[in-house]
Amino acid sequence: MSDLIPFSIALRERSSRAHSSSEHAGFMADLMKGEGTRDDYIALVAQHWFIYEALERTAGQMRNDPVAAVFISEKLTRLPALEADLEFLVGDDWRETITPLPTTRAYVDRINEVGATWPGGFVAHHYTRYLGDLSGGQFIGRLMSRRFGFGTNGIGFYLFDDIADPKAFKEVYREQLDKAPWDAAEQERVIDEVLLAYRFNTELFDDLAHAKAAQVA
Ligand code: HEM
Repeated sequence: MSDLIPFSIALRERSSRAHSSSEHAGFMADLMKGEGTRDDYIALVAQHWFIYEALERTAGQMRNDPVAAVFISEKLTRLPALEADLEFLVGDDWRETITPLPTTRAYVDRINEVGATWPGGFVAHHYTRYLGDLSGGQFIGRLMSRRFGFGTNGIGFYLFDDIADPKAFKEVYREQLDKAPWDAAEQERVIDEVLLAYRFNTELFDDLAHAKAAQVA
């Protein structure tokens, strides 16, 4: 990889096509267009719970790793907000009502694997979710709130109360990506892992669409 291009820029460029596939996956696009239902939104929140449970549990393990630790921040923690959202959207018994879809299981297995063994891989998954939540996620949250009349209930996942300026936070995060002590080969592996993370997200939208079709049938 060229030394002239900061790693964070190369990463964004190399993953922009994968981002576009995730963004335009039918299930997500329908939610954005107003063609998804409240139940569709809840189904997505439930899958997020499994993903963030894995991300934030492995963050606990990676906290002592010198490379991964600089990316980990309590300000990003999403699990309590997801639990409050599910309580509001589903009710007290939400834990008994949610199950991971096949892609979620595979995604969680991969987060667990790299989260136990490979700091660069962990950062790849951390980046793909949290930088997305701080970017398009801000827009998605506002849209879902308006569409379903939630106010702030049910969309707490998208509200980062401890991050006043998401843009500034993302800039610091990108500086950390640029400073990570990865050689060219490791940078390639991290990019590949980000592409894999995007693939999980896109395939999860496909799973959600299939699960919905199976319910309707
Ligand atoms: C409707 C769905 C989505 C929309 C509208 C959307 C929109 C956006 C926008 C506008 C940005 C650029 C923000 C900026 O330049 O600061 C962005 C960045 C990003 N999004 Fe999304 N996005 C969506 C879905 C996703 C998904 C499913 C993922 C993966 C889980 C994702 C991950 C990311 C990441 C990692 C970035 C940061 C890229 C970087 O600057 O390095 N997005 N998104």
